[in-house]
Amino acid sequence: MTIAGGADDTFRGKFSFRNSDAAIIRFPFPFHEDRYMYAVNLEPHTHAGPTDAFVRDFDVDEHYVAECRERALVLEQDPSRCRVLAHMMDAEWDTLELLMESLARDYPALFALDKDGARWRWRNRPLGIDATFTFGDPSTLPQPPFEYITRQVQGDFTLQDQRDDNIYIDGGMVTTQADWSLDFDLGMAFHEWHGPVPVAHDLGVFDRALKYLLRLQYGRPVRRLNWTMTVNPRLDTSPENYPIWGPDRATVTAGNVGERLHLRVELQTLFRLPRSNGILFGIRCYLISLNEILRVPKWRRRLHRVLRDLHPELVTYKGLSRYLPTAVAFLAAHDDGALTGPGI
Ligand code: HEM
Repeated sequence: MTIAGGADDTFRGKFSFRNSDAAIIRFPFPFHEDRYMYAVNLEPHTHAGPTDAFVRDFDVDEHYVAECRERALVLEQDPSRCRVLAHMMDAEWDTLELLMESLARDYPALFALDKDGARWRWRNRPLGIDATFTFGDPSTLPQPPFEYITRQVQGDFTLQDQRDDNIYIDGGMVTTQADWSLDFDLGMAFHEWHGPVPVAHDLGVFDRALKYLLRLQYGRPVRRLNWTMTVNPRLDTSPENYPIWGPDRATVTAGNVGERLHLRVELQTLFRLPRSNGILFGIRCYLISLNEILRVPKWRRRLHRVLRDLHPELVTYKGLSRYLPTAVAFLAAHDDGALTGPGI
């Protein structure tokens, strides 16, 4: 995957975001069968997967520069989208180390990290950064370590502290979220911040997921996929900015649904951190329009069937009610009824 091509994408205003053919082929399509229900869909985040998007710790693609620019814009308007509680400083440095080491290892043409004891030199070629700093000394960086490095990576991140047999969101960089607020959730425990999710609590999904995460081991990251839908290729669908994007939901018509409605997939990764024993949660967001989905016959059939039969409480929770019939009718016209086997 090259990162060239999408540097001028915008996720607001005229929405110039598009996926190249290569980006469509590597899209992390989330449905392995023709129906969907919540489950503890965690699996090892090994350097393997159904597409190239899964094979590195942190995926960098053609939208890299544009997404970093979008993050900077959100933070300029609302600096509180990045918040970390004071006791998480070790986890901040853990995050900086993990991200810099992973990016330099996985993309040597784009990033480089040189260490001379605690004196580190970091080069980020796409963003034109060449910085030398002292690991462990925040005064040698222009921003606190977590903010500094997550400004340079696609996707949101939260930092979890582990104590009292629970995990707590005690920090985050959250500028590309699907309608949840870091400001509101900061300091909450696992079941608390998942409070609004329907059905899954009754299925025991969160009890099992928490047990799994409490035992997450250093060096053995895990991942899962989550999805929703977004009108326009807009990354910042935060509750804080609901007045800006909420009305978009009423603009979807039979004539524009293919272009305007996007499947929004989150490739979520969880890493145990070495010094703090915290957990880094990465939420990497991918957008693909229905017109782009149409280009893959298996995906268009499957998305049609998943949306057509989606549990009503999930329809409401994901905010799809207003335009779902339009989307289903559009996709039905492209579903030839063929049987689709399991797998992506
Ligand atoms: C939704 C955070 C791990 C399953 C959410 C929401 C947040 C969140 C903020 C939105 C809740 C709202 O509506 O306000 C996190 C964080 C995690 C984590 C920070 C890591 C520590 C997990 C895991 C699972 C999971 C391991 C595994 C089953 C879900 C599900 C939803 C959800 C099913 C509903 C999503 C949807 O329908 O769009 N999560 N989560 N989460 N989470 Fe998590």
